[in-house]
Amino acid sequence: MIRAIVLAAGKGKRMKSHRTKVLHEICGRPMLWYVLEALRAGGIGEIVVVVNGELAARIDEFGVAGVLQSERLGTGHAVRVALERLERRGGARIVVACGDMPLVPPELFAAIARSLDGDANAAMALVTAKMPLPSYFGRVVRRANEVERIVEVSDATPTELAIDEMNAGVYAFREDELRDVVTRLGSDNAQGEYYLTDAVASFVGAGKVVRAVPARDHLDVLGINDRTELAQARKEMNARLCARYMREGVTIVDPDTTYLEPELEIGADCVIYPNTTISRLSRLGRDCAVGPNCRLSNARLGDRVTVGESVVTDAGIGDGVTIGPFAHLRGEALLADGVHVGNFVEIKKSSLARGVKVGHLSYLGDATVGEDTNIGAGTITCNFDGEQKNETVVGRDALIGSNTSLVAPVEVGDGALTGAGSVVTKDVPAGERVAGNPARPLPKKNA
Ligand code: UD1
Ligand code: MG
Repeated sequence: MIRAIVLAAGKGKRMKSHRTKVLHEICGRPMLWYVLEALRAGGIGEIVVVVNGELAARIDEFGVAGVLQSERLGTGHAVRVALERLERRGGARIVVACGDMPLVPPELFAAIARSLDGDANAAMALVTAKMPLPSYFGRVVRRANEVERIVEVSDATPTELAIDEMNAGVYAFREDELRDVVTRLGSDNAQGEYYLTDAVASFVGAGKVVRAVPARDHLDVLGINDRTELAQARKEMNARLCARYMREGVTIVDPDTTYLEPELEIGADCVIYPNTTISRLSRLGRDCAVGPNCRLSNARLGDRVTVGESVVTDAGIGDGVTIGPFAHLRGEALLADGVHVGNFVEIKKSSLARGVKVGHLSYLGDATVGEDTNIGAGTITCNFDGEQKNETVVGRDALIGSNTSLVAPVEVGDGALTGAGSVVTKDVPAGERVAGNPARPLPKKNA
């Protein structure tokens, strides 16, 4: 049985923020989210997070239990608070991690969780990393090659500061030993805090062994303390996400300028061109081409969709649709298969049936348009009367002439036609041809 305690009660002073540190986002998720995901993927499902007041109010969103540490007295104190709330289970393992380290991969959590196996004398294990100096991380002091103690930067001598093996802040303990050692930690140090890291010297002094588990890459254990590290972590996380989607068969022309999130679905053979952001659980089918310069947010695209230089938010798009350049779809815009939306077109809360074309300079809001209808350049649905939004319904195979204003609520029937510049204020029956301001029926062709 392996449980985890995640330390996240710190305010993160160096962020200079009103928001608690672990709620700051990288690639569309709070940094704490990544830590919890990696723990779960590493096989550790039972997690308790040590929280401050602000985080306590939001911890339910993360699907884990929170334990309030009302006074921030150090990492050792934080663990003690968590243990008071955890039911005692003899023989269990406890992994301790930090909420501000979003890049720890699941394999590293899995490795530290297993690291005490097979050696009854090993009381504790810690992840270490070689890092460029200077560094804020605690230094791993060894004697005869064995881990002897951790020294914090504020307590270190110049010789100790020259050590480049760091304590990453990720540990594994035997539960009984951890419960015992946290009651014995003192706070006689430069910061006057109860350091969890003093457990190392305590165990070693009692003749036990503390194991070191080296991280593969020091970026894996990057701790975020300020906005520059936040940017560094975002860049690294984005590179990892892009690599993952590329492994799944997506072409990303320039990962440096493609901004992705976890939990997207991007089908095989999609091509993402530069300067493109895809967010909020967007789903793309196969063979889509998106970008350059696009923003997709909660966009659901079918297969073979093309979107260039456009913004698509909260929209459902069928197969073979072409969008842009310079289109804006939002507020549940629903486009069936084969629709074409061209340049300088905005579509809001509207449903366009198969084969509809809106090529140029139009606004469709609160509208329903039937199959194969052509919406001419400059068509506007006048959906707002100053008080409320009104609906426009256009039937199938209709021809809406350039510069038509459809003054809602209004209906244009199947196969109807409006002349250029029409201001349509009354319903147009199926097959009727209207023009003018206000639009009136034109003489019948054969009359
Ligand atoms: C700690 C380690 C240091 C290690 C570094 C890695 C100690 C004493 N030092 O230092 O050796 O190199 O992490 O990042 O542990 N927290 C609480 N309650 C508290 C204090 C801290 O929940 O009372 C949380 C913080 O929110 C943070 C984590 O514990 O997520 C680490 O605390 P922090 O103060 O950042 O410790 P460091 O100085 O970074
Ligand atoms: Mg820190």
